Amino acid sequence: MAAATYTLEDFIADLDRITREETSPEIITERAAPLLGRLVENPGAIPTRYLRAPAGQRGRYMLHRAPRFNVTSVIWRPGDRAGAHDHRTWGVIGVIANEIEETRYRVGEGAGGHARLDVLRVMHHKPGDVSRLVPGDEVHAMHNTTGRDTVEIHVYGRDLAGLQRKTWADDGTETPLVSPKYLNC
Ligand SMILES: [Fe+2]
Repeated sequence: MAAATYTLEDFIADLDRITREETSPEIITERAAPLLGRLVENPGAIPTRYLRAPAGQRGRYMLHRAPRFNVTSVIWRPGDRAGAHDHRTWGVIGVIANEIEETRYRVGEGAGGHARLDVLRVMHHKPGDVSRLVPGDEVHAMHNTTGRDTVEIHVYGRDLAGLQRKTWADDGTETPLVSPKYLNC
């Protein structure tokens, strides 16, 4: 008998249980990552309308919004990127289709009041891959370097709307990143 299909509802129920049982970002993401891996490997788990970018803009859809976590889909069009930014919470990001380049940074003190961003690693995530964000290692940049749309599921441990986040330019200039809208990346 084939293994039962892992659905979005299964994933949400599992996350609800995990975030009830655990408070450590390391443990939550360690437990959530393989489950997200199962979810993104099941192409029918997410309604197709949440897996397409609207004409002329990046796709962002809220799939589940709850106090302890939220689940969104993100569709990066060819060339779409997000500069270095933080999240101030844990996260797991899984790729459904195509690939994404993720660069992780360590933020330190630079010269002239600027921050200094050191690249920790550059990763290319493929379908089924899951990237974990934990406090201390959660500043990243994303870039779709390909000619096709990249489809992902993002899960975060806090509601990102209105959160006082930061973004950094290549030279370390820091800018507040606060949006009343839910920016799910
Ligand atoms: Fe992000």
